Amino acid sequence: MDDRRIGIFDSGIGGTSIWGEIQELLPLENCIYLADSKNAPYGEKPGEKILALSIKNTEFLLSKGCKLIVVACNTATTNAIDYLRENYNVPFIGIEPAIKPAAINSKSKIVGVLATKGTLSSSLFHSTSKNHAAGITILEQRGTGLVEMIENGHLESEELYLLLESYMMPMLEKGMDYLVLGCTHYPYLIPLLKKMLPENVTIIDSGQAVARQTKSVLEQNNLLTNSNELGTHQFFTNGDERVLASILSPAKVKHSVSFKDF
Ligand code: DGL
Repeated sequence: MDDRRIGIFDSGIGGTSIWGEIQELLPLENCIYLADSKNAPYGEKPGEKILALSIKNTEFLLSKGCKLIVVACNTATTNAIDYLRENYNVPFIGIEPAIKPAAINSKSKIVGVLATKGTLSSSLFHSTSKNHAAGITILEQRGTGLVEMIENGHLESEELYLLLESYMMPMLEKGMDYLVLGCTHYPYLIPLLKKMLPENVTIIDSGQAVARQTKSVLEQNNLLTNSNELGTHQFFTNGDERVLASILSPAKVKHSVSFKDF
């Protein structure tokens, strides 16, 4: 039993969608979240740069004594998780686009994946698509520009709506009935997506699966907390803490948001 914190990092505020799922499933655990917003978006950076940033984030979380690290970023997972697992002595949980459930359930056999360039061009993404989506047409769409707008906190703007629509329409015309959100920032687009997509299109992300995996790895390693009080949650950002605080404002749990230039 272990009261140290779960560490979570992302290129910015997007991974808070994953933190929310973890907190809901494991309400007694303490968490520390790192938003590397200064370096967002990761998705347009070369693989070596994404790896270097992932190492920096991991070392920050380890310096805070974290017992397990959730890489709450598809782009960092696909580019860095193997290295992190080999080089650091704590369990790592990664996130990948939920292609498998989409492929199993799609009726049209046409699945759209909205993700960053860094995720779509990675070998892990291609091997997952190959292994789990035989007989399925995968439509890959890069979400260029979306992360920047979400990081600016403009979740309702017309500019964002129009950009997102321009990414959805070609996939709809080709018959997509499942849309996989392959970036942890994108769950914050679900209200806009619901306005523009027909009801027969199911939107899925990997947040709940990551939370379940986090729970099971904590259990297997005897790392669950033995506290019976609700956990506390610290958030650090090297970007604008007002945007992070505002995206967390619906959260009912005790949390603090601080600026830190890491
Ligand atoms: N939230 C991230 C992901 O899941 C990264 C987006 C980015 O920084 O480009 O891919």
